[in-house]
This record gives sequence, structure tokens and C-alpha cells, in this order.
Amino acid sequence: MVVVMTADATASDVDHVVAVVRDAGGEAFVSRGESRTIIGLSGDIERFTATLNLASLPGVADVVRISVPYKLVSREHRRQRSIIRVAGVPIGPDTLTVIAGPCAVETPEQTLAAAQMARAAGASLLRGGAFKPRSSPYAFQGLGETGLKILAEVREETGLPIVTEVIDQRDVDLVSKYADMLQVGTRNMQNFPLLQAVGAAGKPVMLKRGMSSTIEEWLMAAEYIAQRGNLDIVLCERGIRTFEKATRNTLDISAVPVAQRLSHLPVIVDPSHSGGRRDLVLPLSRAAIAVGADGIIVDVHPHPESALCDGPQALIDSDLRELASIAQHLSPLVGRTLT
Ligand code: E4P
Ligand code: PEP
Repeated sequence: MVVVMTADATASDVDHVVAVVRDAGGEAFVSRGESRTIIGLSGDIERFTATLNLASLPGVADVVRISVPYKLVSREHRRQRSIIRVAGVPIGPDTLTVIAGPCAVETPEQTLAAAQMARAAGASLLRGGAFKPRSSPYAFQGLGETGLKILAEVREETGLPIVTEVIDQRDVDLVSKYADMLQVGTRNMQNFPLLQAVGAAGKPVMLKRGMSSTIEEWLMAAEYIAQRGNLDIVLCERGIRTFEKATRNTLDISAVPVAQRLSHLPVIVDPSHSGGRRDLVLPLSRAAIAVGADGIIVDVHPHPESALCDGPQALIDSDLRELASIAQHLSPLVGRTLT
């Protein structure tokens, strides 16, 4: 259940609704939007409906019963698809946003070269991991804060805002100091304290789908972020584990329209981590754009053969020229402007 406040509701109207719900043994999560405040309720909703006349409280515009286990991110709550802005760059239904950059930040030179490649491919946001979630504890784990500083320098030089992953809730403040958008990766999609912490950080969040998660679980994960007052969330389909071994993961292309129908949040696709192979990134990018993705996020590297993480899926210069041409040609066909 969601309580939608009127545009002129006061802070004490909001506090009053929260108090009424809490007194009745429920929990209320306040989300302050640009024009309105909404309050997501959890607890014994049947009883609240029967006993609390929430609709009559001062400042309440509407009380919406929502039948899915995620509320704030659902289409039932907000019919219009959302546009999320990352340092001014829109991600949403009218645009196609390309995010590109190195899988991992390795050196200032490598990151700058990758960012220049990204820009040449028409990217408007730079990706790059300073904290890397690795399967093996012996694999390169990222440069940590040094990597974040490199990203900030490269942003200065190229003007590209930064999307970077946070893997530990204790680092959310640190990563937020540098990032324009926080990324929660596939391995942490159900790390609930981390989701809550990024929800409270006041930065847009890219939430990748867990590699073994259903779409409903993915949306419930997004709800954890939304509950903390942050609806600036972009969902990213990055492939799921199936029986198929020919690709690193199986890109679940149908997840894009399905998630867009269930949720108002933008949905982008990561063809690099799905296919896991350079030769698949462009075909999967075409598929993603054609199916209606709001953007794509790809790995690029100036020297993939010596990359410290995921070299085999990183695009090189010639691929990037083709990617730029794909994005330019396909975006008008799907009614979108390239950002
Ligand atoms: C990359 O971005 C991830 O850290 C990477 O895909 C991890 O995979 P691996 O550690 O299994 O190589
Ligand atoms: C990444 O994009 O750097 C990453 C780790 O991806 P995923 O979480 O999808 O594996």
C-alpha cells in the first residue's frame, strides 16, 4: 500500500501519517519526490485498510493498494515510465544512453584511453570499477580509492560522469564522494544492507540483475533502494545463469520489456557481461536496442589482451566505431534520441 501526499502536504502531515501507521504496528517508508511525497507501508495491510482511515488524514491525496510485492518501483504506483538523470544525462523512454568504459580501473593511462574510446563510441557516461567483485580471491580486486581518484581525474579531463560499483556497505560514503551513479552488481543484488545503504546515499543507482534471480526478485531488490527514499534507480539486465555454456551468461532479452511493463524504472542491458565474448557484444547490443532497452553498458579496453579483468569481452577501437554507428542508426528507428 502506498500513501500519496498532496503537493502542498506539510512535513507534519507526513510525520502524522508515519506515526499513525507505526502506532498500528506497521512500518512507513517516506520517499520525497520533486513534487510529491509518497509513503510506502508494510505490515498488516488488511488491518490498516479496515481500521485506519488513512485517506482522511490531512495532506493525503490518495491511498493506493498495490498487489505486487514491490510497490514504489511498480507500474501500479507510477504509470508513466521514469526518466533518471545522472549528472544531467537522462536515462529513460525517449533516449538511448550508452555507458562505456573499462571493466576495471587499472592505471590513469588505461582509464583515460578507455574513456576516450567510450566518448568516440557516443557514450555519455563512463563506467569503470575500482572495487571489483571477483570469484577468485587471488584475482585483481581493484584499486579501491586510488581507482576512484583516477576516475574523478578522467571525468575532469573528458567531461564524462562516472558509474562505478560499490560492493561493501561500509564503502558507500566513500564511493559516493566520487561517483555520479552507484552500481550494485549481480553478486550483490540481494545484499539487503548494501541496497539500503545505497538507497540512503542520495545518488542514482544502477541495479544489475542477480545472475540467478527472477525478475520479481530483482524488482523487490530495487524496492529496498526505493524504500530508503531513492527512486533514481536504473535496472540492468546482464545475463543469467542457464544450462547453456557457449556464452558466459544467457542474455534474457525478454526481461527488458517484462521489467518495463512491471516497473516504471528504466531498463538497460549489459551485452559485455552477458555474452562474455567480444564478438557477441555488437549483436547483443543490436538486440537490446531493438527490444526497447533504455541504454546499454559496455566494456572497452585499449589493450584487452593485458586487461586485469574481463579482457575477452572488452571492445576495441574498430568495434566501437561500429557500435557508434549501430546506436546512431537504430535509435531513431525505436523512437529514441541518442543522449
Ligand atoms: C567484472 O566486472 C566482474 O568483476 C567479473 O565479471 C568477475 O568475474 P570473475 O571474477 O569470475 O572473473
Ligand atoms: C561490472 O559491470 O563491472 C560487473 C561486475 O558486472 P556484473 O555485476 O554484471 O557481473
